Amino acid sequence: MAGRLEGKVAIITGAGAGIGAAHAEAFVREGAGVAITDIRPEAGDAVAQKLKAAGGNVISLKHDVASEDSWAEVVEQVAAHFGKLTTLVNNAGLNHMRGVEDETVEGWNHIVSIDQMGTWLGMRAVMPHLRASGNGSIVNISSILGIMANVTCLSFHAAKGAVRVMSKAAALEYAERGVRVNSIYPGMIDTQQLATMLPEEREMIRTSIPMKRIGLPEEVANCSVFLCSDEASYVTGAEIIVDGGLRPG
Ligand SMILES: NC(=O)c1ccc[n+]([C@@H]2O[C@H](COP(=O)([O-])OP(=O)(O)OC[C@H]3O[C@@H](n4cnc5c(N)ncnc54)[C@H](O)[C@@H]3O)[C@@H](O)[C@H]2O)c1
Repeated sequence: MAGRLEGKVAIITGAGAGIGAAHAEAFVREGAGVAITDIRPEAGDAVAQKLKAAGGNVISLKHDVASEDSWAEVVEQVAAHFGKLTTLVNNAGLNHMRGVEDETVEGWNHIVSIDQMGTWLGMRAVMPHLRASGNGSIVNISSILGIMANVTCLSFHAAKGAVRVMSKAAALEYAERGVRVNSIYPGMIDTQQLATMLPEEREMIRTSIPMKRIGLPEEVANCSVFLCSDEASYVTGAEIIVDGGLRPG
């Protein structure tokens, strides 16, 4: 049986761990060619090796999503290797816990350059190839904190909130040009981003989630599989919240 992403070639950023690695696995399972990119190439290589051993059509590339030059190199290498590029998952991102008075300009710029500017740089870099494919798709991974407020994540809110509106604006801009742009809003997902949490903090979060469990990286990836497949051919500018019911209203 043909996979749901047969014929697609995807760049997945930050795919050396967590939600990005789960995307790489899901996209390979569904028949896509996948470029695993990460600022930690050894982490990307390890994911790629595992998927190649299982028969996946995969490459691993070093990538800093906050760098224009790095995007140009990655896109060129992917197009040269696979002969085309149809799909982008802008997943790489990070957070730190700083409020209004704790944040610094340096800290702000670090978060915003990766989570917000990196998302734009990615869309811009892949667009010529996605337009040429006639059937391109971009998924931007925002966060539930791109929609609802929390304390002490100010720069992350600024970045992920922007990703939400940027995704919709890009969806409008490319609606007639063969590229769909959608966004995903994970709640608490079990990745290394939760690793520093104390067991009691984790338990407090778990019990606050209506489904009473922390989400799995593949539960985010499965939504992207749908959005990047032709099953979602009339879906653009949409947002999918993946949070076990956490967001009220
Ligand atoms: N885990 C969660 O609960 C959660 C919740 C909401 C949103 N998210 C979002 O999901 C995405 C993935 O999160 P995760 O939990 O899997 O994170 P993670 O820390 O497990 O993995 C992120 C990966 O991105 C890579 N990376 C970091 N900076 C990079 C850069 N400049 N260029 C390229 N790669 C870079 C890291 O090396 C790492 O491998 C992020 O955008 C994050 O904000 C996560």
